[in-house]
Amino acid sequence: MPKCTIDGKEVEFKPGENLVSVAKRAGIEIPVFCYHPGLSVVAQCRMCYVEVEKMPKLQTACSTQAAEGMVVKTQSEAVKKGRAGTMEFLLLNHPLDCPICDKSGECDLQDNSFGHGSEFMRHSEERRTYVDVDMGPVIQKNMNRCIHCTRCIRFGDEVAGIHEMVAIKRGNNIDITTIDGKQLKTEYAGNYSDICPTGSLTLKDFRFKKRAWMLKKTPTVCEGCSKGCNMEVQHEGNVVYRCVPRENLEINKYWMCDEGRFNYQYVQDPSRIVDPMKKAGDSWLVARWEELLSGLRTDAAGASVLFLVGTDLTNEEMKAIQDAARALSPKIQIQSFGTPGVETSGQDGPRDQILKMKSKTANLKGAESLGISPLLGSAKSDVVVVFRGGRAELPRIEAKKAYGVGVFLEKERNFFHAILPGLSFLEKDGTVINHQGVPQGMKRALLPRGRCKSTGEMLMLMLNQRNNEVTA
Ligand code: SF4
Ligand code: SF4
Ligand code: FES
Repeated sequence: MPKCTIDGKEVEFKPGENLVSVAKRAGIEIPVFCYHPGLSVVAQCRMCYVEVEKMPKLQTACSTQAAEGMVVKTQSEAVKKGRAGTMEFLLLNHPLDCPICDKSGECDLQDNSFGHGSEFMRHSEERRTYVDVDMGPVIQKNMNRCIHCTRCIRFGDEVAGIHEMVAIKRGNNIDITTIDGKQLKTEYAGNYSDICPTGSLTLKDFRFKKRAWMLKKTPTVCEGCSKGCNMEVQHEGNVVYRCVPRENLEINKYWMCDEGRFNYQYVQDPSRIVDPMKKAGDSWLVARWEELLSGLRTDAAGASVLFLVGTDLTNEEMKAIQDAARALSPKIQIQSFGTPGVETSGQDGPRDQILKMKSKTANLKGAESLGISPLLGSAKSDVVVVFRGGRAELPRIEAKKAYGVGVFLEKERNFFHAILPGLSFLEKDGTVINHQGVPQGMKRALLPRGRCKSTGEMLMLMLNQRNNEVTA
């Protein structure tokens, strides 16, 4: 591999790689604003100045490709002066309102100002001001904080496939907005907020709910479809405040869709059933776990029993259900359910040109790998037990007795005679296999709500009751 020298360190690089990326691999951070590894290079903010031997002027590292024998300095006096000048220029029109800005604590402008700016400012003129713009259900725009890096425009054009963000007017009057002030249309709008290096594009669902530095971060996998986008759940006090994508160049690159980003909301929906419940006439009563588990065990020993396994469950849960069914009765049938019309991975495929897949559950491949055949049509049996993670679409159930085990909302309970509340994807660890066949780990971010139990615990308690009876 060819080599160049950065700040005295010899570094290998791949042909075509730019200096920001080569330096990063060597542990040297070059500050950027307009550069993003998932977007085209425009070199317009001038924050990434470096000095390159034999070149008379400072160079922008994002648009300079490393070359064999190149000698680069990222900390020279000329570089420091250049970056401080860029910061002074960018802050000419930026309000000094970090304490009340939603981006504070995770803002590139704040960090780069602290790391590379000057403590003095020569500018004393009035700053330009704009009113906030409502950009639709996902994004709110504050143009006062914009530094015209155009990441958002390029994200629309190059990733979301929609030219909806534009720069209008020029110079001091420039305005980054949507065409004719229309609302954003893309179903990937949350990414605008992730890539904006300032507090200009904020997520409506999150803004002003929590300071960034108070959030705990758990890396996990989105359960919204069979793509398996890598994401980070940001939470505090057992409440999720937002989900953001995590980089995985093989799967989702740097992005995620809005459906996956906001999917977490059902987990903390006040109508989620978090107590064991049984139907009593037209009403529902809170029940004891022992009562429901022993009822389920007795009913599962019947002649015609169907265990329906959601393709939104993890491999470990599905395997535990298979093992429990074998231990309870050889007559129990097991089938999977998830997305109507996408019963097998052969029927799965892209839902758009970006990330979304047709299967709206994360683990269709996992169910197939365990040999669980899909339910076709409605679920007919004397007893039907539905195990569900939260996203699998409930089929039509024709049964004398139906149990729901897992995550259900109140509006869904009338399908059943009893609900045994389980854990959502944010409350458990486990493995899911995405449409490419890549196994990935889901990580627990939250504690269980109410009296919810894991599928494994419920099955163990149920089998243990049986064993107690056998030995009694
Ligand atoms: S809104 Fe944000 S991403 Fe768009 S140009 Fe302004 S600073 Fe850059
Ligand atoms: S494409 Fe699928 S896996 Fe990725 S964020 Fe959207 S719903 Fe989640
Ligand atoms: S990051 Fe290089 S010019 Fe903006």
